[in-house]
Amino acid sequence: MTNADRLALLGGTPVRAEPLPRYNTIGAEEKAAVMDVLDDGELSGFIAYNGDEFYGGRAVRALEADFRKVYGVAHAISVNSATSGLHCAMAATGIGPGDEVIVPPYTMSASATAVLFTGAVPVFADIDDKTFCLDPAAVEAAITPYTKAVVAVNLFGHPAPLLQLREICGRRGLFLVEDNAQAPSATINGRYTATIGDIGVFSFNRHKTMQCGEGGVTICHDEKLALKMQLVRNHGEVVVAGMGVDDIVNTVGLNYRMTEMEAAVARVQFGKLPGLNARRVALADRLSKGLHDIPGLAPPHIADGCTHVYYFYPILYDETVTGLPRDVFAKAVQAEGFTLRAGYVKPLYLEPLYQKRIAFGDKGFPFNANPRQGNLSYAKGICPVVERLAEKQLLVTNIIYPPLTEADMDRFVEACAKVLRNRDALLALQ
Ligand SMILES: Cc1ncc(COP(=O)(O)O)c(C=O)c1O
Repeated sequence: MTNADRLALLGGTPVRAEPLPRYNTIGAEEKAAVMDVLDDGELSGFIAYNGDEFYGGRAVRALEADFRKVYGVAHAISVNSATSGLHCAMAATGIGPGDEVIVPPYTMSASATAVLFTGAVPVFADIDDKTFCLDPAAVEAAITPYTKAVVAVNLFGHPAPLLQLREICGRRGLFLVEDNAQAPSATINGRYTATIGDIGVFSFNRHKTMQCGEGGVTICHDEKLALKMQLVRNHGEVVVAGMGVDDIVNTVGLNYRMTEMEAAVARVQFGKLPGLNARRVALADRLSKGLHDIPGLAPPHIADGCTHVYYFYPILYDETVTGLPRDVFAKAVQAEGFTLRAGYVKPLYLEPLYQKRIAFGDKGFPFNANPRQGNLSYAKGICPVVERLAEKQLLVTNIIYPPLTEADMDRFVEACAKVLRNRDALLALQ
């Protein structure tokens, strides 16, 4: 056996010896946009008062106008993160202590903690094992008299079953909020994600396809929801009286305002988004073509009518076919020079926050405000599909980003094949 044939984990030469490059799409245009702001000297345009500056500065408003135009919505509200945006969105729905919101457990933690910040609680519903997004049947089964909203997460860049969820929410009188942090400009039947729910939330943190360091935008069609979100963004309690808003529920505000520099960068990046997405799709397609020939590794499924924008690239792993435990496989591929995660996150309800029901203070709030406390369960086993994926079946890589190339995708496929060729050597180590 040559050194190239031997697994890197066992002292052989890795398929990829060079470190993976950083994802960096910041260029001259972003620099120029920030310099314009700095030359102008107004680094934020916000003031928390009932007047024009309540709505922020020039770059912030221009970014919001761009989002309104591209997504065809009446309102866009910039914020300093998607976490802030999710909190604004949940607050805008008017939910509070005693209410429930249905959330998938396989997502970044803020999809659920945004609910807690209103005093309501998340109820976790299971996901579909092909798209990794909410299963509409599980959502329907999780609805109680206390349910007020559903948070659909368009996970990894693939749309949740938004049309079915829209129908369920319409029929049951629930708000539908889309956590679209991972799927900017994904589509379902030609419609953009984030525009089908009542509110859609975007993230521009440093890992996202388009970024400005930290930041986000929420979009919606409804004027009242938009105003509520603006109030939460900018110290609503001192503004609301002058605006003649009678419904002051959840208008206690924070400082979720975006700076002019962030907005300037986000605008340029938003202009690049179609190209950035297209490059990811091309790399992902190449990867899928290669992985297709490896038994036991299933490339991402794309549901009918959907486009995927591949923030992450999920792979379904079948140990009964490969004969190698998933975690051992992932470790061996990592040693060959690639990123590969065994699973994505711990199912959220298994975190101490939900297991111990301690969020604010130590008395159990807001969980103890739920009227059906005994039946509100965060026990292991409540979402078997999520647990199976997390424990055994899901692999996630992020390598579908430029400057990585088609040749790098082929090398990833070769790394997977190499590990499986050397299965017996790995098993001997266990
Ligand atoms: C699905 C999802 N929701 C929310 C967030 C929070 O985004 P931000 O970092 O902008 O607050 C993220 C970020 O990783 C995410 O992936």
